[in-house]
Amino acid sequence: MSKQITVSAPGKLVLFGEHAVVHGKPCIVTSVNQRLSLKAEKLEEAVFELEAPDVDIKGYKKALTDVGKGDIPKGAQFVELATRNFLAKHKIKGGVRFETVSQFKSTFGFGSSSASTVDTVKALSELFKIKLSNDEFFKIAYKTVIDIAGVGSGFDLAAATFGDTIYYVYPGKIIEPLKLKSLPLIVGYTGVKFDTPTLVKQVNASALKYPVLYKTIFNQIALIVEDAKTALKKKDYQKVGELMNLNQGLLDTLGVNSGILSKLIYAARDAGAYGAKLSGAGGGDCMIALAPENKRAAVEKAITAAGGQVIQVEVNTQGVKVEKND
Ligand code: PMV
Repeated sequence: MSKQITVSAPGKLVLFGEHAVVHGKPCIVTSVNQRLSLKAEKLEEAVFELEAPDVDIKGYKKALTDVGKGDIPKGAQFVELATRNFLAKHKIKGGVRFETVSQFKSTFGFGSSSASTVDTVKALSELFKIKLSNDEFFKIAYKTVIDIAGVGSGFDLAAATFGDTIYYVYPGKIIEPLKLKSLPLIVGYTGVKFDTPTLVKQVNASALKYPVLYKTIFNQIALIVEDAKTALKKKDYQKVGELMNLNQGLLDTLGVNSGILSKLIYAARDAGAYGAKLSGAGGGDCMIALAPENKRAAVEKAITAAGGQVIQVEVNTQGVKVEKND
């Protein structure tokens, strides 16, 4: 039986349908080739240990009986609660030590929390030789996110688990890989971090205040997602770009756009992108643009000149996987 294992899961970007997905509509999410890896080791002592230097967790240790209890530092929450949920479900009492290393900053909005949750469930199932169906795997990961954040559709868990580009309906009701080969995507980071649950709750509150209006907006976003799914499969990038612009307009209507996001989005469009929009909860994090290959350099330059940081990523990558098994 293996005593030590290293796994890794990809980050993600939302292509279409953020926010509306929390209200039962579909979204499209893609995985990116920047990964978060996690090394897990069985311990004789009944303790939980975590090193996660990227999120300021150093020398974190507690008794296994205290896992999931008391004040848990933000950077430790997802690994710790995923461990609690996994061990409780499978009645395991063994000690474990984890170490995470990320290829991307947790501020990018690439889904480091989800990737670390998925990594933890994967590593524990391998270490303790417990076979989980896709459904069981997803349930433990999703429970972890809800235990911590209270809200969330779980699309980021689907991307971290299955990779590829996925058509998703909450809470894992539909997880359909679109099997795209490539996508000429450009990513611009605003440098601003915004809290996702705060924005989700803000949209929820407005949706309660203006139920008919918001329902209409969510329905329109759902129509965009359906068209985008077909256009992506056909590689009709002109249309995908136009649909991105339409989706962005509706996200602005929902109140989750920001000045800096707009600046980068318009810079990308003016430099020849097919289309551009924010990706994720909004407020900050990243914007994405789709551009013809001969316009890529100009779009990247325009995003940088507008104050953004271009992040080089490839999309449609592999989901969670075992990197090393000792
Ligand atoms: O901020 P991100 O990248 O985690 O995306 C949030 C997307 C929302 O639809 C607003 C919330 C969710 O859980 O689906």
